[in-house]
Amino acid sequence: MTNQKEPRAPLDMDADEFREAGHQLVDKIADFLAGLNERDIHKPNAANVAREALGTVSLPNTGSSTEDVIGEVSDLLLEQSLFNGHPRFWGYVNGSASPLGALGDLLASSINANVCTWTVAPVASEIERQAVGWIGDLLNFPNDPKCDSGGLLVSGGTMANITGLLAAKRARFGAEIREQGNVFKGAEKSKFYATVETHAWLEKALDMMGFGESAINRVATDDNLRMDIDALQKSIQCDLEQGFLPLAVIASAGTVSTGAIDPLEEIAEICKQHNIWFHIDGAYGAVSACVPSTSDELAGIGLADSVAMDAHKWLFVPFEAGCVLLRNRLHLTDTFAHETTYYPTTGGPNALPIAYRDQGVQTSRGFRALKVWMCLKRAGKDGYAQMIGNNIRQAKRLYEKVQQHPELEAVSQGLSITTFRYHPAEIHDEELLNKLNREILSTLQAKAWAYPSHATVNGKYLIRVCITNFRTTDQDIDELPDRVLSIARNIS
Ligand SMILES: Cc1ncc(COP(=O)(O)O)c(C=O)c1O
Repeated sequence: MTNQKEPRAPLDMDADEFREAGHQLVDKIADFLAGLNERDIHKPNAANVAREALGTVSLPNTGSSTEDVIGEVSDLLLEQSLFNGHPRFWGYVNGSASPLGALGDLLASSINANVCTWTVAPVASEIERQAVGWIGDLLNFPNDPKCDSGGLLVSGGTMANITGLLAAKRARFGAEIREQGNVFKGAEKSKFYATVETHAWLEKALDMMGFGESAINRVATDDNLRMDIDALQKSIQCDLEQGFLPLAVIASAGTVSTGAIDPLEEIAEICKQHNIWFHIDGAYGAVSACVPSTSDELAGIGLADSVAMDAHKWLFVPFEAGCVLLRNRLHLTDTFAHETTYYPTTGGPNALPIAYRDQGVQTSRGFRALKVWMCLKRAGKDGYAQMIGNNIRQAKRLYEKVQQHPELEAVSQGLSITTFRYHPAEIHDEELLNKLNREILSTLQAKAWAYPSHATVNGKYLIRVCITNFRTTDQDIDELPDRVLSIARNIS
């Protein structure tokens, strides 16, 4: 009898091969991290370089060696990507990712838990439950084992917000809306209240939910771009008189453009008066509730029916990781649980471990909870308060530095966002100012030393610095105004 080995599957790896490939890759990543601060943030021609390197060949019949595959793609990525972990990346709301989170991804993929039902992911489900609870602790959202709150991890802020509104809809109309859709009991008369500063996920959500964008009532803002409470009251009153159905108020705990925080406690009170669902988009700012200087302003988070937050922003967890929290988690099972013949039954909505497929849109779900849990465990509440508080302080510092330059106009400062523009005293033409600032920003980005993005507020095009970055130093901040001015003087 011959002792012939079965041929190995092309994607199989033995332990030694895995160890060798893994060590090589980890060494490369460690070198990349060590040199990150000295690199350009991006290479302006990267997309073309990548297209050329990847080529246009169709899928080869023959596979490549593990070494070649890892070598080719890691070199391309580590050389040509835009590095949002660079200390001076301040665009959009992208968190610098903790290297520990990357290790979490590796471990999660190795286990490959499908956090869909607890039977196939018993440990992962428990880790997700704890991670969600810890996020609640950071936000001062109710998280006592006996309370009804709960939630789940989702792909990001957009999905977290949509999940919150889907729960709001189900809570308002009950089980029958599943059958009948938005024609049920005049659901098409539903109204949602938010300011123009609300992130564009809202339009996406209402379009997907069949309410349409016309269901949004834009509430006026005050001078600091926060929701105006009187305007909200009037808008709701007026809609009620006309037979509309106020379904949810969407407040922002940190708007995407300027970091404005809507008056959460007052909004909660109005929602209570009229029995309206109170949803908070805290994708960016909700986690700053753990910082003493901002916790008062965010105290209303605990009063919301649902809150969306993003771990891949200011919790410094690698993409993708968002979270939705509900004061009453039963609304999630009411909204998303469906009986099947092929999945185990949950044993009731309060049963633990949690069957996460019954709590949200996804059925198969990755183990994103692990990287979230690991980062939370590593930094703790104090670690996050320190990192987030430091970013807020740095944004304030930038605002003050900008104020010291007569040719720059400091426009806003909220949470870790500062906006400003080049505005020499002799230029009054707003269109010209917008054009100049657009050009200054694109030159600054192209130089790849720093990477702010822009905001348009009251028609003004502004340079917007959003610091959700644990690598940013005060020196990075202090150098920016001079860099902007030097570009501006060359342009104008
Ligand atoms: C306030 C706010 N809400 C929602 C989102 C959308 O989050 P995500 O990109 O994770 O879907 C963002 C993204 O920047 C945001 O800043």
